[in-house]
Amino acid sequence: MAATELTEIAQALVAEGKGILAADESTGTIEKRLKSIDVESTEETRRAYRELLFTTEGAAEYISGVILYDETIRQTASGGTPFPGLLERQGIVPGIKVDKGAKPLAKAAGETVTEGLDGLRERLNEYRELGARFTKWRAVIDIGDGLPTPYAIHVNAHALGRYAVLSQEANLVPIVEPEVLMDGDHAIERCYEVTETTLHAVFHELHLQRVELDGMLLKPNMVLSGKDALEQAGVQEVAEQTIRCLKATVPPAVPGIVFLSGGQSDELATAHLNAMNAIGEHPWELSFSYGRALQAPPLKAWQGKEENVSAAQAAYLHRARLNGAARSGSYSEEMEGAVAA
Ligand code: 13P
Repeated sequence: MAATELTEIAQALVAEGKGILAADESTGTIEKRLKSIDVESTEETRRAYRELLFTTEGAAEYISGVILYDETIRQTASGGTPFPGLLERQGIVPGIKVDKGAKPLAKAAGETVTEGLDGLRERLNEYRELGARFTKWRAVIDIGDGLPTPYAIHVNAHALGRYAVLSQEANLVPIVEPEVLMDGDHAIERCYEVTETTLHAVFHELHLQRVELDGMLLKPNMVLSGKDALEQAGVQEVAEQTIRCLKATVPPAVPGIVFLSGGQSDELATAHLNAMNAIGEHPWELSFSYGRALQAPPLKAWQGKEENVSAAQAAYLHRARLNGAARSGSYSEEMEGAVAA
C-alpha cells in the first residue's frame, strides 16, 4: 500500500493558504479562451500563455499544484526547462488531466459520460515519468427537465471509481471531479438535491472499487442557484448549503475538497470559499482548484502581447493571493482593489 506518499501529496495540495490552478483546458477549450482576447490558438500561443502563468514570481506562496494538459506537460519554458520541472523547482506539484472529455451517453438525450478509461493504465505510467504526481478526471452532470437520470449518475460515478483506483495504483493522487453544472434556472434546493445524490453515488463507487480515501481529493461544484434563476442565493446561504451537502456525503478521511469555479465570477468564487472557511473548522480542508476564476484577470490583461506579460502576471498573483486568503476566511471585498502591477 503506497498510502503514505499519496496522503503526503494530497495534503501538500491542500496546505494552509494554498490551492490549485487548473490550467488543463483541452485544445478546444483553450482555443475559446484565447479567441475571447483575439489571440489565435497555436501550439506556440498556448505555450506562451501557460509559460506566463507558470513563471509568475511569488505564485508558489498561494498555489500548491497546477493541473496540466497532455500537450502542456510535454512543453518547455523559453529557457528549455520542461513545464513539470519548472513548477517543481518552485515547490508547486505538477498534475495532469487524464480524462478524454464528456461524450454523449447512449440512449440518454442531453446527458454525457466521460471517456478515457481504455489504455489509461499505460498513460498514467507515462505521465508519472513526465513528472506528474496527481491526476484529474471530470464527470459532468446536467440539471434539466427530468435530468439527471440515475443512469447517467451511475455510469459517471462508476468511471470515476475506475479512474481513481488506477490512478492510485500508479502512485498518483486522483482528484475526483463530479461537476453538477450551474446552467439552468433551478433553485438552490435542486442543486443541493442533485449534488447530494451524485456525491453519494460517487463515494459508493469509490468504496466498492477500493479507493483509499486518504490518498485522494474531491473536486465538486458548490451548491448554487441555477445561473439563470431569477432569485439568486446569497453568499452565506451558498456557503451553508454547500457545507451541509458535503457533510452528508463526504467521509472525513478525505484530506481535502478543492472546488471548481464552474462559471462563477472570480470575485464570487473567492467570496463563497471565504464564507465556508469563515464558518469554522470542517472535517476536511476546503480549498480551490479554479480554472476560469484564477485565469480570467490574467487572460484579459495579457491580450497576447509580450509587453503585457508582467501586468498579466500581477493580475494572476493578485487573484491567487485573494483565494489564498479565502482559505482561512480572511478575505474581504476591500482587498479586491489592491492589485500591485
Ligand atoms: P473552472 O474553475 O473554470 O470550472 O475549471 C476547473 C476545472 O478544472 C474544470 O474541470
